[in-house]
Amino acid sequence: MFIIGADRLMRLKLMNNIDNKHTKPNYSFLAKLLHWCFIFLFAFGLYKQVDDINQLEDISFFRTEIVFASVFLLFLTFRFLYMTKTQKTSLPTNTPKSQKLVAKIVHFSMYISLAGIAFTGLMIGYFFSLGLKDGFLIELTIGTHEFLVSVIYWLISIHVIAAIYHRLKNDGVWDSMVPFWKETK
Ligand code: HEM
Ligand code: HEM
Repeated sequence: MFIIGADRLMRLKLMNNIDNKHTKPNYSFLAKLLHWCFIFLFAFGLYKQVDDINQLEDISFFRTEIVFASVFLLFLTFRFLYMTKTQKTSLPTNTPKSQKLVAKIVHFSMYISLAGIAFTGLMIGYFFSLGLKDGFLIELTIGTHEFLVSVIYWLISIHVIAAIYHRLKNDGVWDSMVPFWKETK
């Protein structure tokens, strides 16, 4: 039989606890602000989406779409550079390499899909302004635009489920980004 002394057991538990907690401070205030402001910006983008290509005939609607997509793309680029240059993941140091890789892939894919949605939106606008209102080129661009919208819905769902999983694990990842439903200490 394998008997561990009470003292050794306590020490093991303490070490495991320290390892499970995030060993770096939270994301910066700006990182959190960018994350949550961006969610509102994206939700607004979905709310005011183009339902029919003929809506682009309305010049003021067309202009608003182009300005929105450009601001969205600039915001996303700034956020990506800020996050990759100044912030580190809050996953605990003992997270398996494979899990860290999956988290990276999901985050990176979210950036790519979001940029792709805005970029293909701008391309649709460009082709439309050239008078290409139907045909292979614009249909392919709209198809890609819509495909990326479905991809981002999947990625966001995976992302939110993963965030809730970390909240239930109480490992500091949730608290590092989310200001409500705080983890139990
Ligand atoms: C970041 C900016 C944008 C977001 C978040 C966005 C979002 C969306 C969404 C959610 C859809 C519906 C997809 C579906 O039902 O499968 C859509 C469709 C579409 N979007 Fe965008 N869009 C953006 C920029 C643009 C721009 C700049 C244009 C063109 C000026 C544009 C033109 C279109 C068109 C033509 C459709 C297809 C409408 C149809 O079903 O006929 N989008 N967009
Ligand atoms: C209620 C919804 C959401 C919750 C609870 C949430 C939670 C989190 C948490 C806990 C992290 C830190 C993960 C880590 O350090 O590894 C994070 C990071 C991130 N979230 Fe969310 N998130 C939500 C919605 C979204 C949405 C809608 C998007 C995209 C439109 C998004 C994009 C990102 C990205 C790209 C990161 C990686 C860090 C960065 O580069 O900003 N999140 N989120």
